[in-house]
Amino acid sequence: MQAKLVAEIDAAADLDAVEALRVAALGKAGSVSALLKTLGGMTPDERQTQGPQIHALREAVTNALAARKAALEGAALEAKLAAERLDMTLPADAAPKGSVHPVSQVMDEIAEIFADMGFAVATGPEIEDDWRNFTALNIPETHPARAMHDTFYFPDKDAEGRAMLLRTHTSPVQVRTMMSKEPPIRIIAPGRVYRSDSDATHTPMFHQVEGLVIDRDIHMGHLKWTLETFLKAFFERDDIVLRLRPSYFPFTEPSAEVDVGYRQEKGRRIVGGHGDDDGHAWMELLGSGMVNRRVLANCGLDPDAWQGFAFGIGIDRLAMLKYGMDDLRAFFDGDLRWLSHYGFGA
Ligand code: PHE
Repeated sequence: MQAKLVAEIDAAADLDAVEALRVAALGKAGSVSALLKTLGGMTPDERQTQGPQIHALREAVTNALAARKAALEGAALEAKLAAERLDMTLPADAAPKGSVHPVSQVMDEIAEIFADMGFAVATGPEIEDDWRNFTALNIPETHPARAMHDTFYFPDKDAEGRAMLLRTHTSPVQVRTMMSKEPPIRIIAPGRVYRSDSDATHTPMFHQVEGLVIDRDIHMGHLKWTLETFLKAFFERDDIVLRLRPSYFPFTEPSAEVDVGYRQEKGRRIVGGHGDDDGHAWMELLGSGMVNRRVLANCGLDPDAWQGFAFGIGIDRLAMLKYGMDDLRAFFDGDLRWLSHYGFGA
């Protein structure tokens, strides 16, 4: 019986078969268990002769089961390892590489150029209150400029009873900075702004970079020099054509809008030189001016002691101009084909 059982176990094809044999021999109703039970009914003499045999049988079966189980498990592991074998010498699949979005790239470039001129980077929240976005900037509730901003308002007011909105420009960061820092101040504030507006040159979310300088004896000459120096560095050429147009912003006085000239048929390249009119166009890039005395006073600064200038640049337009792109909306479609066409995608 022992030889037969052990032979069966050694021949078991898989772990299920081993388990079935274990149950058949050592289980409650197993053949070896049945033999063990007969010991109780034996005379001491019988038990003395048969006991050791039956125990030896049980041990032999137990050992055979364990050995077969180990052998089968070892074989299974070997098979699994063989199936999962990696050939480290095979060439890897080319994975698409991510890259920096043109808008982020341009923001970084802007921050670097202004850092060289001693400007720090300031930030503010995209959810603002109407006091910082409008009132402190000399745009009272009844001012027509509020309507011009196509503002996204939140339904509820904040704890101080101020209307909450998505900031329509980065100018509230001017207010935050003047209220929290002593002059002299030299900051830029890049970030997202929101207006309910959408066509080829407007998207409901776009990017601006605000600039603010507050010091003693600051005048328009400083503003013009700063913008010219920045744009020459940004477009990497000295023959940038700038046009300053008198303009109006409630928070600056006087105010100027700044356009940069470019050639249309050459894929939106910046024009080098005046008086060249064919295919020539201007792109409105930024608003600027001397910080209005009322804004200084609203922010707790003495307008007789401090002057300053401020500007707000459309980052997306700057990126379009630099990289010769013509649809602002494409910036925010996340279309890798479009991005890679301009050298930004995978
Ligand atoms: N905040 C203005 C805008 O969004 C731009 C601006 C900033 C103008 C600073 C003057 C000074 O249109």
